[in-house]
Amino acid sequence: VRKPAYKIASIPADGIGPEVVDAGIAVLKAIAKKRGTFELNFDHLDWSSDRYKQTGSYLPENHLDILRAYDAILFGAVGAPDVPDHISLWGLRLAICQPLQQYANVRRTRVLPGTSSPLANCKPGQLDWVIVRENKVAIFTRTGIRRIARFAFQLAQSRPRKMLTFVTKSNAQRSGMVLWDEVMYEVAKDFPDVKLDHMLVDAMTVRMVLHPESLDTIVATNLHADILSDLAAALAGSIGIAPTANLDPSRKNPSMFEPIHGSAFDITGMGIANPVATFWTAAEMLEWLGEKEAGDQLMAAVEEVCKKGIKTRDLGGNATTKEVTAAVVQEILK
Ligand code: NAI
Ligand code: MG
Repeated sequence: VRKPAYKIASIPADGIGPEVVDAGIAVLKAIAKKRGTFELNFDHLDWSSDRYKQTGSYLPENHLDILRAYDAILFGAVGAPDVPDHISLWGLRLAICQPLQQYANVRRTRVLPGTSSPLANCKPGQLDWVIVRENKVAIFTRTGIRRIARFAFQLAQSRPRKMLTFVTKSNAQRSGMVLWDEVMYEVAKDFPDVKLDHMLVDAMTVRMVLHPESLDTIVATNLHADILSDLAAALAGSIGIAPTANLDPSRKNPSMFEPIHGSAFDITGMGIANPVATFWTAAEMLEWLGEKEAGDQLMAAVEEVCKKGIKTRDLGGNATTKEVTAAVVQEILK
């Protein structure tokens, strides 16, 4: 049997994007080498704010055809100080997510070993969440809600605690949010083994801070989950570790994996960007490609390196991006 060879499109884009994507590719190459059961081939796509400033467009016209030839996309971050954020975001990232039907945005959060939560009483293990964000604009349809609901129930079902919390604001936003509530309870009938509960978004922020251990899988609309997942990243210690996956669960299109953080102009070029968020999303990419064991092994190496205290400044350490990357590569290959 020939071993699978996955084609990965890398789009490092702006700011610290190229620094963390380089680091991500280095650990992915190491894990492929270590395991020897699959290949990863990377093509670098130079779609960025520089391209926009030179040509007036972030993307070539046939960008969807180009991307559809890949098994997955590894994305850095987009955003430049001299381009308005709504132009950069819609010009590149959303111009990929939306037409490729990446409607499920999955955001895992965990307190990694060797790091700490700003919550004084929160120990590793007490905060282990996955937030599912609907990757669509604020127009709600029964079909759209049903597919994200089913996805979230299946994800909750696959985790040991089988708990799903859905977040809306149906007391105040009485059209779209009431529809969400209705569809969630309807879909719940197909998942009797998943324990479902409902929170209003304002009360949810309080619960995340006071009772992090009471939550597991969370699903919410685009805007609510955007805000909650930044809170989640902060509660887990740093935005520099938080991964995100933009999935097309139908698998008709490639899915896109990226760190949650942006292009971080304030630290660009300093060599201190935390690559852990990109490592984590790379592990999720492997899992999505069907290489879960490789993904788990990659995350185990990341945790081992964190435990040893080899961390960047945002996590209270003093290691550089390159030092953390080299340590993870070494851990994988040992
Ligand atoms: P940001 O995430 O780039 O930075 C926020 C703060 O976190 C900064 O102090 C930064 O130094 C720090 N930080 C971020 N990532 C880090 C890492 N890996 N290691 C260590 N520290 C890290 O968010 P900000 O400043 O609001 O946005 C900057 C640009 O990025 C804007 O143009 C924004 O639109 C864009 N952006 C793009 C995103 C994407 O491509 N998905 C997501 C968020 C923002
Ligand atoms: Mg955000």
